Amino acid sequence: MGTTDWRTVNPSGDRRVVVTKELPGDRWLQLLTRAGYRVDVCTSSRILGPEEIAAALQPGCVAAIGQLTESWDAALLATLKQAGGVMYSNYAVGFDNVDVAAASALGLPVGNTPGVLTETTAELAVALTLAVARRIAEGDRYMREGRFNGWLPTLLLGELLYRKTLGIIGAGRTGTTYARMLVEGHKMDLVYYDVLPNEALEDYLADYGGFLEAHGEQPVHCRRAESIEDLLRAADVVSLHAVLDASTQHLIDAARLAQMKEHAVLINASRGPLIDEAALVEHCRAHPHFRAGLDVYEDEPALKPGLAELDNVVLVPHLGSATSWTRENMAALAATNVVAVLNGWPVWDGPDVRPFLADPSPQAAPSILNAEILNLPTVTDTSIDDRALRRRTA
Ligand code: DGY
Repeated sequence: MGTTDWRTVNPSGDRRVVVTKELPGDRWLQLLTRAGYRVDVCTSSRILGPEEIAAALQPGCVAAIGQLTESWDAALLATLKQAGGVMYSNYAVGFDNVDVAAASALGLPVGNTPGVLTETTAELAVALTLAVARRIAEGDRYMREGRFNGWLPTLLLGELLYRKTLGIIGAGRTGTTYARMLVEGHKMDLVYYDVLPNEALEDYLADYGGFLEAHGEQPVHCRRAESIEDLLRAADVVSLHAVLDASTQHLIDAARLAQMKEHAVLINASRGPLIDEAALVEHCRAHPHFRAGLDVYEDEPALKPGLAELDNVVLVPHLGSATSWTRENMAALAATNVVAVLNGWPVWDGPDVRPFLADPSPQAAPSILNAEILNLPTVTDTSIDDRALRRRTA
């Protein structure tokens, strides 16, 4: 481990935890140091390469908290194991950067941080949707360039969302939350594509439609699309909320872009490789009324040539979870996963992670992705016998 880009907290700690980036807030560090660990934190904002991380793990690292920008592949996980590591904790809910199968084969639990990004990421996707539809970034540039010479009937006309059709691909936590924000806020009809039906969402929106009717308004409608093409043809706004794996790589390619409406809006706040970005550049060039809002990129942090020159695209730097509340709680969950595994505590199987967001939190690991395959014991929030939890929820 090089000395310049690292700081050590609690140097006399009995076991060593490596954290590959500074994390927001201080609760995560308190959780680790109160448990008696020495914590080595990389202070550089540079994305670390595998050799640098491997060097930092040696000698005697029992657990690492790593980033979605790092590839925790079989080789790096094996290095962690060989250094004495017993678990890896990802500072993210997404885990396409981790070879979970390799970790399982090595007997290493892999933690992630679900439950505290949902609304935050959905709000960012809504912000992008509105920014794209109403040309906010173009308007901002227009003002700063001193081009505003007075109101004009034809200046920067965008798209109205109210009562249009929203399409989401992936109706999990974030997709559903984003959809509800736009359906309830802008009375959009919803068409969703997911391998599984989301009956809870369908029931909720049927009830919401009934509520609107009871108040003399038109109801909203929700249906599950028969195919991605069916959704793309129907929707005025399409937002991607699928996980990245081999089946979703380039889910939106040139052929599918061609299925979308001429004035459609495409939003991606999940993972960049879901879109064939070069095809998107071509499509946006050829279709000036088509608009896209991107939070994530195929070759992140690099952009495909031409993307940054397009006026009909809004770009932000992977900000989906970027609020202090979310990032601090992600850090606390990542640290709690470490403390729990090192202490042999069970894995939380409750409906949400809120009990972990303040001290004292349950003696459990908030989220271990391969708990089942590693046969780790689980505990639910109703079965846990934890005085602190009972005190707080009383
Ligand atoms: C995650 O946690 O997977 C997000 O992409 C971070 O914003």
